[in-house]
Amino acid sequence: MKFSISLSAAIVLFAAATSLASPLPQQQRYAKRATSDDWKSKAIYQLLTDRFGRADDSTSNCSNLSNYCGGTYEGITKHLDYISGMGFDAIWISPIPKNSDGGYHGYWATDFYQLNSNFGDESQLKTLIQAAHERGMYVMLDVVANHAGPTSNGYSGYTFGDASLYHPKCTIDYNDQTSIEQCWVADELPDIDTENSDNVAILNDIVSGWVGNYSFDGIRIDTVKHIRKDFWTGYAEAAGVFATGEVFNGDPAYVGPYQKYLPPLINYPMYYALNDVFVSKSKGFSRISEMLGSNRNAFEDTSVLTTFVDNHDNPRFLNSQSDKALFKNALTYVLLGEGIPIVYYGSEQGFSGGADPANREVLWTANYDTSSDLYQFIKTVNSVRMKSNKTVYMDIYVGDNAYAFKHGDALVVLNNYGSGSTNQVSFSVSGKFDSGASLMDIVSNITTTVSSDGTVTFNLKDGLPAIFTSA
Ligand SMILES: *[C@@H]1O[C@H](CO)[C@@H](O)[C@H](O)[C@H]1NC(C)=O
Ligand SMILES: *[C@@H]1O[C@H](CO)[C@@H](O)[C@H](O)[C@H]1NC(C)=O
Ligand SMILES: *[C@@H]1O[C@H](CO)[C@@H](O)[C@H](O)[C@H]1NC(C)=O
Ligand SMILES: *[C@@H]1O[C@H](CO)[C@@H](O)[C@H](O)[C@H]1NC(C)=O
Ligand SMILES: *[C@@H]1O[C@H](CO)[C@@H](O)[C@H](O)[C@H]1NC(C)=O
Repeated sequence: MKFSISLSAAIVLFAAATSLASPLPQQQRYAKRATSDDWKSKAIYQLLTDRFGRADDSTSNCSNLSNYCGGTYEGITKHLDYISGMGFDAIWISPIPKNSDGGYHGYWATDFYQLNSNFGDESQLKTLIQAAHERGMYVMLDVVANHAGPTSNGYSGYTFGDASLYHPKCTIDYNDQTSIEQCWVADELPDIDTENSDNVAILNDIVSGWVGNYSFDGIRIDTVKHIRKDFWTGYAEAAGVFATGEVFNGDPAYVGPYQKYLPPLINYPMYYALNDVFVSKSKGFSRISEMLGSNRNAFEDTSVLTTFVDNHDNPRFLNSQSDKALFKNALTYVLLGEGIPIVYYGSEQGFSGGADPANREVLWTANYDTSSDLYQFIKTVNSVRMKSNKTVYMDIYVGDNAYAFKHGDALVVLNNYGSGSTNQVSFSVSGKFDSGASLMDIVSNITTTVSSDGTVTFNLKDGLPAIFTSA
């Protein structure tokens, strides 16, 4: 805790120093740069710009999920209420630069200084960000520094316009870190030579320009493990805002060391633990508790990690495990457990797509239904988060099939028995809740009283998580 305070203080100081000292006009346009501490109170809704909303509100399905489906900035702007209505106060959108053909996801930049016109123009992007800010929502931009888009005929029209500006093509050996950093992802993405200091300066100028020109509040950084660690210090400083990096690996000992360079990271280690407990059910809740411990050893500050159970790179939860009660328990961990929550669009409509691109469904076929069971569930859980001071105490109870933690004033009880379960759960809350306190669950209206010896006992309702607030 002590460390996290000094770390965020350093970020605040840095932000203040840049805005005072910098002569660049683009840096005078934003009132305030959002720091890690600012983001700690946010709940993030991740969407793919091409898949979330169409400008004309047509709801026909997309015929080919491997190509553009028609989502735009204007489509997002129209449906911001749908997002904030669930209690999210931040969105993560796709990368914005011009892409190689078929780059509907945005990860295949050619000219980093031009916009991808499939998503709209500069004024439509600015309108989206302004509309989000007016609702108190932050906007996070997904960015790529590691690579450009695939090409079969040279680099004409690319920001990095010559083969000499890329590492020579080679196949990644995932047992060799230098190879991970300097060979080509998927054998097809030209790997920008980030050992070249001119290239580094250009990449820093680009990210600084994106954040400053459009007033983004944060960035999510793609393929972080594919560039040498010390590149990220300068890149994050150039961005000047909260920057959560994707190190796609489940081992805290591998991901943790990146935090020295890039403090907020995507919590892939916990993703795998959540899968073992809620999806395959191969492990009891000690798996989560042990991962919290491993992460505390491996990271300097676990409170700035971003937590998720679904994203665009993995089959959806409901594809591998169709039991919605288990999904609701996992979502409750994400939204109320330690870390900054990220929920992937379509979760609220029970989308169940498999491996990419099937997990990148278009949302509009669901008609932005705000009465769906999962939409209402997420809204309920987020209402607790919105009212609380976000202080968490994990591991109040760690059982094979049940787990309890405290979020603000609320006692959160998760289980992985599955739907239909009415199993009894009983554990001590001594020192956290007073004997005699009456508790009321906002998910299923279960009521219980803390016994004289400090025990809470109740029967689950339909395998659902229970979130007790003081009655
Ligand atoms: C939309 O199309 C996708 C892929 O072609 C398909 O998997 C999905 O079931 C369709 N959705 C609806 C609502 O028809
Ligand atoms: C879908 O789009 C991709 C990318 O443009 C293309 O390669 C593929 O042939 C298309 N599939 C169909 C069935 O049209
Ligand atoms: C930001 O805006 C400046 C001034 O218009 C422009 O020169 C620069 O290319 C922009 N940066 C990016 C990354 O779009
Ligand atoms: C937040 O609320 C909890 C529960 O009321 C309390 O125990 C904790 O001290 C509070 N934390 C802060 C930093 O105010
Ligand atoms: C819980 O109680 C509230 C208020 O009485 C009611 O509106 C809601 O339907 C109940 N929920 C459940 C799941 O029983």
